[in-house]
Formats: sequence, structure tokens, C-alpha cells
Amino acid sequence: MVKIAPSILSADFANLGREVEALEKAGADIIHIDVMDGNFVPNLTIGPCVVKALRRYTQLPFDVHLMVKNPEQMIPWFAEAGADIITVHAEACKHLDKTLATIREYGVKAGVSLNPATNEDCLRYILDKLDLILIMSVNPGFGGQSFIKSQLEKITSVKELIGNKKIEIEVDGGINPMTAAECAAAGADILVAGTAVFAGGEYQKNINNLRQY
Ligand code: DX5
Ligand code: ZN
Repeated sequence: MVKIAPSILSADFANLGREVEALEKAGADIIHIDVMDGNFVPNLTIGPCVVKALRRYTQLPFDVHLMVKNPEQMIPWFAEAGADIITVHAEACKHLDKTLATIREYGVKAGVSLNPATNEDCLRYILDKLDLILIMSVNPGFGGQSFIKSQLEKITSVKELIGNKKIEIEVDGGINPMTAAECAAAGADILVAGTAVFAGGEYQKNINNLRQY
């Protein structure tokens, strides 16, 4: 069954501890944390001290999505703050192979994210360093955007590339019950959803709807 990773980008930022507790109660599998630096993407969000403060509110894995330039220096910050997965953007790393190795040295799972326009061929020679591939189905920076259909084909290609290796495919952006079904059918293992989980405050019902495919 596909795992649901709510993005706290759509949460009430004045009550993040309570929001994370509520998501766990509602049946979330993973907490997705969108870190934006106002440089790689035109938005500024969460730093390591917030991640550290949230750590005592839930046992769920923290999936830290770094939408930042030169993420290398931030790996120790987020590892020490309690991240279980750290995902960097292929477009933001000069030495991607080395950056992934560094993430694992901190005992954290290593992920690579690809923007919609980025070809999955760049993953071919780093598969042995990867625990997760995050396919962006919107241009990163903001919640509430529409799913970019062409990324379904990328999910299929990445699935093929992975073969029987133990790497999970995560899809992020514009996920709703309809696009969730399409992503799951194409081979996604984890779906990130902000808008669709937080809509109307009915977290449990919304999470269940995303699994109904
Ligand atoms: C976008 C973020 C996503 C986003 C998803 O840059 O990486 O995690 O919050 O939000 P929705 O589900 O609203 O598209
Ligand atoms: Zn994200």
C-alpha cells in the first residue's frame, strides 16, 4: 500500500507541534518537511531548530526535503535535528554522489529530488547511494499547484531504472485522490500531500481518501 506523507507546509505554522500530533493520529505514515531557502526556490520556510522542536511531538519518520542551494552544509544541521530522510535536489548539487554519501554517513536515509524538467538519467550512476527518489510533480516553492501530468511517465521510467533495488519512489506536488491513484498505478511508493490533507481540517478522512485507489 502507498504511504502518505503530509507536507506541513500547509499546516498552521503557529501550532506546528499540535499539527504533527494530529497528523500521526489521523494515520499519516511520514511527516514531510519542506525546507526552502529563498534562493533555490522563491520561498522561505523551516530551519533545523523547528525540526528539532517538532521531534518530541511524534514518532513518525521526518522526511526533510531540502529545496536549497548548496545543501551540503545543512546536512549535519538537519541530521542532528532528527531527520530520518534527507532529500537534496539534483539541480542544486555540484557533487551529488559525494553529497549523498555524506547524508548516509550521518546515519540518515539519502534521497534525490528531480524538478519536473530534469531528466531521470542523472540517477543512473548513483543508484547505490540512494534510498529514495523524489519526483516533483510541480515546480517547487509553493503548495496548492496543479499536478504536472508528464511526470507520470517519469515515475514509470524511474521504476524501470530502479529494477529490484531497495529504493522508494516518492511523488510531491498536486496530489489529490485522482492524481494519487495515477501515481500509485505508475509505481509510486510514497505520496506527499499538503493541500489535500489539510483541506477542511478533516485530516483522517482526507488521508483515507488519498489511499482509495
Ligand atoms: C512544493 C513542496 C510540496 C508541497 C505540496 O514545493 O515540495 O511538498 O507542499 O503541496 P500540495 O500538496 O499542496 O501540492
Ligand atoms: Zn516537498
